[in-house]
Amino acid sequence: MSGFRDPLRIETPTPGAATRLVIRQPDDWHVHLRDGDMLRAVVNETARQFARAIVMPNLVPPVTTVAAAEAYRSRIQAALAPGLAFTPLMTAYLTDTIDPCEIERGFETGVFTAAKMYPAHATTNSAQGVTDIQRIYHVLEVMQRIGMPLLLHGEVADHRVDVFDREAVFIERVLAKLLAAFPALRVVLEHITTEAAVAFVETAGPNLGATITPHHLVINRNAMFEGGIRPHMYCLPVAKRERHRLALRRAATSGNPKFFLGTDSAPHVVGEKESDCGCAGIFNAPVALETYAAVFDEEGALEKLEAFAAEHGPRFYGLSLNTGSIVLERTPRRVSPTMVVANTRMIPFQANASLAWTFRGRSSGAC
Ligand code: NCD
Ligand code: ZN
Repeated sequence: MSGFRDPLRIETPTPGAATRLVIRQPDDWHVHLRDGDMLRAVVNETARQFARAIVMPNLVPPVTTVAAAEAYRSRIQAALAPGLAFTPLMTAYLTDTIDPCEIERGFETGVFTAAKMYPAHATTNSAQGVTDIQRIYHVLEVMQRIGMPLLLHGEVADHRVDVFDREAVFIERVLAKLLAAFPALRVVLEHITTEAAVAFVETAGPNLGATITPHHLVINRNAMFEGGIRPHMYCLPVAKRERHRLALRRAATSGNPKFFLGTDSAPHVVGEKESDCGCAGIFNAPVALETYAAVFDEEGALEKLEAFAAEHGPRFYGLSLNTGSIVLERTPRRVSPTMVVANTRMIPFQANASLAWTFRGRSSGAC
């Protein structure tokens, strides 16, 4: 894959000094960068930490054509801080009527890295998603043939199913059949939240991987009700019971190459969150790597962070590993309570909290 020496280093330069972790630069395999003012407000939070990111296509209207993805990619690049090297990896939004030739052309020309399947009405901006996966089986046939990964929002949108069970029911009703019908299709079950998902991914073949978010490693469902209703802790798939959080921590820190980093950072302005019908989505980009580092540290697995953050994802996608490094330091940092966007604001994940780790940026020393 890459001839570069593994840059993992855990250093304590002088006795009493903060521990530093130098790792290969990570990628974010699932992020919402939005558009317009919001894009400009959030993109550099992702770009300063990650070399590449899989950019979700659930804009309004969604990204369903090669031309729309190229235009969106240009807007992302234009919003980057000068000199910040960052590669947005674009995705196509699958609809019932998506043109398989457009998907194939986008992948073959390097514009689309993957295609995303939102079950219709399962989450934010999914109204034009897929109503029945069998309607796109001819598209999945093409994706399997050309080796294009399918990214899944793994929840059924059936309102008769309890909201906390929608991931497990998706695995039973949709995913198991999908993998049987397309054994060579590469599939990522995104932002997994349950023991059931961990077990399913572990036992499935090598074509199934999963991303794990920082927030699902840190919160369980109680966080949404801590002393009152907490809209900034609400996302989809919704956080589950404690035993599920523990299963996710075990999976992320296990070293199993099927599990990799995907933040699902999903910013919404404060008025869209604090509302009688608040949007799903946790904006974690400002604290993403620091949160993962703290989790791996707490689990006694710091030496596994690099593979989870910077190796498993590119290997799954068949892409090269990054060659640069980044530095994290075990030094406390206070998270700002709010972030400005246009004439309003957003509340980041861990707002006001003191983090145990601080991201120090890209390392100047080559690996
Ligand atoms: C995402 C968003 O806001 O776009 N929200 C979320 O809660 N994760 C959509 C998604 O990934 O489900
Ligand atoms: Zn998402």
